[in-house]
Amino acid sequence: MPARPVRNGGAPGRIVHGEALEVLRTLPDGCAGLVYADPPFNTGAARDRIATRVRASANGTRRGFAGRTYESAVEREPGYADRFDDYIAWLRPRLVESRRILAAHGTLYLHVDPRESHYCKVLLDEIFGRDCFLNEVIWAYDFGGRSARRWAAKHDVILVYVRDTREYTFNTDQIDRVPYMAPQLQTPERAARGKLPTDVWWNTIVPTASRERTGYPTQKPTAILRRIVAASSRPGDLVVDWCAGSGTTGAAAAELGRRYLLIDESRDAVAVMRARLPAATAEFGEPGHERAAGGQHAE
Ligand SMILES: C[S@@+](CC[C@H](N)C(=O)[O-])C[C@H]1O[C@@H](n2cnc3c(N)ncnc32)[C@H](O)[C@@H]1O
Repeated sequence: MPARPVRNGGAPGRIVHGEALEVLRTLPDGCAGLVYADPPFNTGAARDRIATRVRASANGTRRGFAGRTYESAVEREPGYADRFDDYIAWLRPRLVESRRILAAHGTLYLHVDPRESHYCKVLLDEIFGRDCFLNEVIWAYDFGGRSARRWAAKHDVILVYVRDTREYTFNTDQIDRVPYMAPQLQTPERAARGKLPTDVWWNTIVPTASRERTGYPTQKPTAILRRIVAASSRPGDLVVDWCAGSGTTGAAAAELGRRYLLIDESRDAVAVMRARLPAATAEFGEPGHERAAGGQHAE
């Protein structure tokens, strides 16, 4: 992977098609103010991309130019595999590199599944030190069916670790505020201002019909990344996401005046990111680099 060191000037963002560990190893110590990673959750499933295709059809119900009719269909395209031989062994070197590239004021956010989060926390305690644990953020959403056999699983876990407990960034005044649960118990001014969020974040998943939806599997809401970037990085900082998918982290970073480096080994992800972030530069790895959908990770 011919990844070059991160530039300070020029384009606000850089998209790199490559394997996370290989690219992370090329980055200088302490170059990043924030690292966010949302690796595959080790669910054992193949993550397909959902795309809506529109085709000309005599029986179609959508009407277009010159009386032509069209039909639309939701199609699945291969995305990426979500299966690991040893998830923690795979994560370890990438998290060691994440810590190495964090500046003294830097913070790591690791977005994982409740089935793996406790193993990830033990691993991060080992790599960062228990003192550097800042939060376990619960992102709670409410979408889809309910199981009749157990509580419906409707949250993700985001583990937050800082590089240095004395120097880390936390911009309380930049964080979006949320409504009080009982606004009638507050003064009108306080109720209108809202309160700081806690470590439980209620936010819907990216709605199917929303403008921000790219169709990329497991795309995260920009509101979640905006909150993370606003709270835990400084203007001009480099924000690194080494499992970038549709580029949500880059979208939030660009909006908030941060530089970004987005890494993904999937060409499909890179194509989605390029369309979403046209101002970013893009670099491609070797063609044989990409893992086939359904393939297995192995160190
Ligand atoms: C859960 S998705 C990330 C979604 C992203 N947060 C978003 O909002 O769109 C995980 C991504 O990690 C990528 N990935 C998996 N293994 C990787 C590796 N070893 N190096 C780089 N990217 C990897 C997959 O291609 C996939 O796009």
